[in-house]
Amino acid sequence: MIMSPAARVVVVDDDEFGAAAADVVLEHLPYHEPRLGIATGGTPMPVYAELARRVRGGQIDLSTGFLIALDEYVGLGAQDRRSYASYVHTHAAVPLGVAPGNVLVPDGLALDPDAEAEAYEQRIADLGGVDVQIAGIGSNGHLAFNEPGSALDSTTRVVALSDQTRSDNARFFDSRSDVPHDAITQGLATICRARSVVLLARGTEKAAALAAALAGPVSTEVPASVLQRHPAVTVIADRAAAAELPDRLAQHARNSL
Ligand code: PGA
Repeated sequence: MIMSPAARVVVVDDDEFGAAAADVVLEHLPYHEPRLGIATGGTPMPVYAELARRVRGGQIDLSTGFLIALDEYVGLGAQDRRSYASYVHTHAAVPLGVAPGNVLVPDGLALDPDAEAEAYEQRIADLGGVDVQIAGIGSNGHLAFNEPGSALDSTTRVVALSDQTRSDNARFFDSRSDVPHDAITQGLATICRARSVVLLARGTEKAAALAAALAGPVSTEVPASVLQRHPAVTVIADRAAAAELPDRLAQHARNSL
């Protein structure tokens, strides 16, 4: 039997989360024209803040880099503050000093979202792929907007959001009914083509999903479990999110890095 290499799991205190993740991202990011895959949501914010702090301090320079988003809501354009294009601009591109022309996000207002999804897959390939993908995990185990049931070999496409995800994300909207029903998302195969992946998880509401993704069977029911097949995954988890991981996985404390 061929065993896939276990992900490296780094368990950190909350106040070290951003710095620990930034260290791992930079460990894998090439100096020249780095291509960084950007996740949206609340979890990565301290990571972008820490990377921005290092840019401002002159420790790193990402100005030749590219930012590549995982997904976008269908129906929201870049001018809409709730869109992921707006999130990437505000929380990553501006603070990291990346020019707007070097930022890729699927166009949520495309007249033909299916064609836009296909074109996005090609744009990533044309750029040479993603060097380091920052990713979060949904409380239902989703990876980007690949909801439970997504094929492990899926590519960028239009998907319907699950009820759970629409409820989880309602906090970014005035009301739950405002949360779009569909999104364009990189597929699980697309994400797995990134050379390395940094998976972030914070809070008890992620504990069961993280344990299922890393220690359960690889299954379409837990889309993030596909990362067990990826050879270069580092997980940064706070203690609450790591609480249900088996000891054999959660053995690396921050001071062992
Ligand atoms: P969150 O989202 O960081 O806002 O919890 C993560 C995800 O749903 O992938």
